[in-house]
Formats: sequence, structure tokens, C-alpha cells
Amino acid sequence: MQKRVLIGAMSMAIATLWSGAAFADGNTFKIGLILPMTGQQATTGRQIEAAARLYMAQNGDTVAGKKIELIVKDDTSVPDVTKRMAQELVVNDKVNVLAGFGITPSALAVAPIATQSKTPEVVMAAATSSITESSPYIIRTSFTLPQASVSLADWAPKNGIKKVVTLVSDYGPGIDAEKFFKERLTFNGGQVIESLRVPLRGPDFAPFLQKVRDLKPDALFVFVPSGAGAAVMKQFLERGMDKAGIRLIGTGDITDDDQLNDMGDGALGVVTSHHYSTYHQSPANKKFVEAFQKANKNLRPNFMAVGGYDGMRVIYEALKATKGNGGGDALLAAMKGQIFESPRGPVFIDAQTRDIVQNIYLRKVERKEGQLYNVEFDVIKDVKDPGKNR
Ligand code: PHB
Repeated sequence: MQKRVLIGAMSMAIATLWSGAAFADGNTFKIGLILPMTGQQATTGRQIEAAARLYMAQNGDTVAGKKIELIVKDDTSVPDVTKRMAQELVVNDKVNVLAGFGITPSALAVAPIATQSKTPEVVMAAATSSITESSPYIIRTSFTLPQASVSLADWAPKNGIKKVVTLVSDYGPGIDAEKFFKERLTFNGGQVIESLRVPLRGPDFAPFLQKVRDLKPDALFVFVPSGAGAAVMKQFLERGMDKAGIRLIGTGDITDDDQLNDMGDGALGVVTSHHYSTYHQSPANKKFVEAFQKANKNLRPNFMAVGGYDGMRVIYEALKATKGNGGGDALLAAMKGQIFESPRGPVFIDAQTRDIVQNIYLRKVERKEGQLYNVEFDVIKDVKDPGKNR
């Protein structure tokens, strides 16, 4: 009992220290951006950092009288490292906002720190539905896997795809994708005949794809995190799965714009559902893509970049709304309910769930202007995360 009281008092003291420290530094507003800049998820870090810097270049680095300081840390997508970095950023650097988070385990590792220190945690990449429930200080500007998966499960049976095998990375977002795709496909009269899971780190897809070939489904539904799609595509084609009449479908993570153009003509015709395509035909997106490519040696922005860009927007607008005087709670309140035109289309930060509400597009890989793109052919408007309130 005494021990518990002592621990309680200690954590209260830490919380006081943190919240007091957070605004000690008068004229700067610090954003701690924790990203995988090296390792398997490095493309996510590169995309989000570039997008955050673009947002700052376009919107200035002084907001509501505060100088914005972006502190970028490489967590190599190891959650223990993410956690240590978040702790250091809060205690030593006294950041006002924590942001980034390339994979779900990293976003979850920081949740208790966000809660205790009352620091908003802006999740720009990770996409497991439950993340926003792990702390009331989390706001998300990426997407959720249930959001992206159900639309494809509505499309598939209407397009000759009844029997499906699912293949997902064996962790949060993959399990969400598998579950929500299967549930909706079954509801629509289709069938998932086998569900396969591959390890997140260093996966070997070969034995799994062999199994899929033997099962001969109408389609293989895949979720792998951004950066891993090209490897799946390569092995899928090398094994002649397409020639065997098995279609490849999935969330847009597999035809990731960061890699798509190098996947070759074998990718043509692959149908995916997602919230962002570089090829999205809107004036706001054309402007975004052009500026991003100009600032980054022609690198194509992918859905991670948009999550980062919009995350910065949410932070900037919250700082403006609180006139530069707000603590974590005030900033968080000002982040909730923001409605704006993103390069992906219209979006809304649901005040209740703190999750993003957005359009989900059905897209097909086509060659346009000599390059491979995800070309949108249908849209489901204002999709809330189906993983909430179940
Ligand atoms: C995640 O870990 O939540 C994650 C990472 C990459 C994606 C999607 C989800 O493309």
C-alpha cells in the first residue's frame, strides 16, 4: 500500500515537472518529430520529414509570435527507442508537440508519455484503429486500415472476386486489414478461404505465395507496410501468379507511390483502395505534388507525405487558434474538429474519436504521361474509421 502511494506521488511529481517544463521556453514552439529515418521503414521517415519541411517553407516558421522549431529524431522504428526519444524530447527539449510515428508499435509506446505529460501526440503514419484509444492526447492525420479495407471488400464481389486469400504483416495494421476485409467480404457474399500472416521484420514472401498459388483464389488481398510493397509485387509476378489467374488487390500501401513507378508493367491493373494517390486530380494536390517534387529532386510524395503535411497543418492551426499561449490541453482542443482541404481531398478531425474522417478512393494502376500511377475510379465519401464504436 505504502509503495503504491509512493509510486503515485512520484508519478504526480514527474507529471508536474513535465507540464511545468513544457512552456518554460517563451518564444519558441517545439515540435518533436520522431520518425524511422533508417532501416526497413526509412522511406516513411524521408517522406514525412520532407513534407513537414515543405509545409514550413510554404507557411513560414513563425506562428502566433512563436518561432517554430522542428526537432527530427530517428527511432529506426524500434518502439523502445521511440519511447526513450519521446521522453527526452519532453523532459530535456520541452517540446510542445510530439509527432511522426512510422509504425503502430512506436505510436503506442509513446501514448503513456503523451498522457502523463499532457503533450499532444500527432500520429502522421501509423494506422492501427486502436491507436487513438491508447491516449486522449493522440490525434491522427494518416488513416486506419479498417477505413481503407472495407471499401475494397465492397468492390471485390461486384467485380468477379468471390474467393480470396488474405496475406498481411503480422501486427496491428495487418490484423485490422485482415479482420475488416474478411468481415465485409463475407457480409457481401464472398469468402476468405485462407488468412496468411508474414513477419513484419525481414519477411520472406516466397513460401506464402506458393501456398496461395496452390489454393487458386480469385484474388490475393495484401497489406504490407509502406516500403514493402515492391518486394511482394516482384515475387507475385516472378511466380506467375497473375498468369495463373490470381488477381492482386489490397490497400494502397502495396502500390505505394514512393515505389510504384519502379514496379514495372506487371503492376498495371492492380486495384487498391486508399485515401491518397499522387495522381489525385484536384488543384490543391497538383500544387502540393509540384512543390514537393521541386523541393525533393523529383521524389513523388506518397500517402505518408500527406499524413505529415496535414499533421503540420493541424499543429499550425491549433497554435494560431490558441494565440501561442495554450498548453497541451488547449492545443489538443484546437486540433479537434478541424476541417480542411487536404491534397487527398476534404478531411475532418473527428472531435470525439480524434481520428481523421476522409474519402476512400478505389484506384487502378495505369500508365499516364509515361509513368505508373494509382488512377482513382470511384470514391466513398467521408469515411469514418469503422474500427470505432463497435
Ligand atoms: C503501421 O505500422 O501502423 C503502418 C505502417 C505503414 C503503413 C500502414 C500502417 O503503410
